[in-house]
Amino acid sequence: MPDPASPEVSMETLVALCKRRGFIFPSSEIYGGINGFFDFGPLGAELKKNIRDCWWDDMVRRRDDIVGIETSIIMHPKVWEASGHVAGFTDPLVDCKVSKQRYRADQLFFAQVVVDGQVVGYVSALESERTAEELQEAAESLKRKKAIQGKLAPVEPRDMTEAKPEEIALIPSPATGEPGSLTPPRSFNMMFQTNVGAMSDASSVAYLRPETAQGMFADFKAVVDTGRVKLPFGIAQIGRSFRNEITPRNFIFRSREFEQMEMEYFIHEDADWEKCHRGWIDWCRDWLVSIGLPLSHISEYNHPREKLAFYSRGTTDIMFRYPFGVQELWGIAARGNYDLMQHEKHSGVPQAIFDEASRKKIVPHVIEPAVGVDRIFLAVLCAGYAEEDVKDEKGGVEKRTVLRLSPRIAPVKVAVFPLLKNKPELVVRAQELHGRLKKRYAVFYDESGAIGRRYRRQDEIGTPWCVTIDFDTIEKDGTFTLRERDSMQQKRIGEAELFALLEEKVF
Ligand code: GAP
Repeated sequence: MPDPASPEVSMETLVALCKRRGFIFPSSEIYGGINGFFDFGPLGAELKKNIRDCWWDDMVRRRDDIVGIETSIIMHPKVWEASGHVAGFTDPLVDCKVSKQRYRADQLFFAQVVVDGQVVGYVSALESERTAEELQEAAESLKRKKAIQGKLAPVEPRDMTEAKPEEIALIPSPATGEPGSLTPPRSFNMMFQTNVGAMSDASSVAYLRPETAQGMFADFKAVVDTGRVKLPFGIAQIGRSFRNEITPRNFIFRSREFEQMEMEYFIHEDADWEKCHRGWIDWCRDWLVSIGLPLSHISEYNHPREKLAFYSRGTTDIMFRYPFGVQELWGIAARGNYDLMQHEKHSGVPQAIFDEASRKKIVPHVIEPAVGVDRIFLAVLCAGYAEEDVKDEKGGVEKRTVLRLSPRIAPVKVAVFPLLKNKPELVVRAQELHGRLKKRYAVFYDESGAIGRRYRRQDEIGTPWCVTIDFDTIEKDGTFTLRERDSMQQKRIGEAELFALLEEKVF
């Protein structure tokens, strides 16, 4: 169960903002939508691109030891046999035979209802921040319904993967409230299957990739042979991944089509992997802070050793405090050389490389930081959203909604306003400035409505700065008003100063 969060903003509020202002729409909404798929509107596409660009710049372009690649979404099906996805990329699935609802067994919780030491029934609840409370309430209600006297014991929640075979028939389905319709958990492979070519038979089966990582492993030798890389070095990629999640949920947090930014950092087999792993955890955390996430919302979770895959040496997740709980944002795994060895075995192509420093032929080990763009997107919205009481132009109090996005990722960097739209000299001057700015930055021109209203519109989409061209701009020294989103403070600056500010803050 997720740790409870203290939500500063509800998901309903965020979803409504995303729709109202064109960040995110449900996919194919005119046909009723399709669960687990989303479209990014004009502002969302900009914000997403900025997140990707910042990562690519910092992870690839500004480093000498990492190269970037782009591999195909559909790869040879043997890739997924070698990686273990065909056999093991599964989630435990429970069906309700009556309602036809499907649940992830590890997200469907149940508890015995124990009165005076006797089990008198079972209750169930879907995973949420309130699972334990909901189960307790359901247990009290069952006791009342059955008119049983005695002392009710506190419930002990378990998930359906822990249910004993004889318990399954006694656990009520969350859909019907009645026992007897839930099936035992079975493995459900999450890869989307398709067919390549004109024949739709077993020989043409292929998969939409469930992660981008295998592209880096499958192309490892090609990069080494062409890329003039030497250990330690990384191969990075950004791209779409697809998982047929049983229960997509929490908006874009868990969807069926999403975007990953993954990097495989190859190290010598004798290298200090723990130091390297720690180094990448720190890098990822610092990077999140550099795009505006508050440190206070970030924590780390070390996967217990006994739950790791046999080849894994350690995995640490960077967790983020979302409104629906503290959840995984970025996984940093030390995977040994399992993936390369598997591809060597299944393809027959040796994956060892010659390491100049040790004068040895080795199959390198890997540290893998893997993150979802959509989860970062959601995190920056959750952390940035605020509603504040502010003074309006007449001295009264009004509400402002503000998205405190870092200038690095804000979809619009500067909004340019002429003070009055019916004064051509102001309009021309504002449009000229807008034209010069837009050669380098995403900017927005707005002349409609009172200045205060124009500020509010920009606050709500996270624009860090607004500039207003007024009569002083034209009649005096060419300076204009720069209004800062978070402090709402205003000062006069000139064009060179504005470009210098953008140069410093937007990188
Ligand atoms: N190659 C390793 C790998 O794919 P993962 O933990 O399954 O590891 C990495 O995925 C990251 O991708 C996660 O930390 C998360 O940010 C993102 N991610 C995974 N499944 C997702 C989903 N269904 N929707 C959105 N993002 C997802």
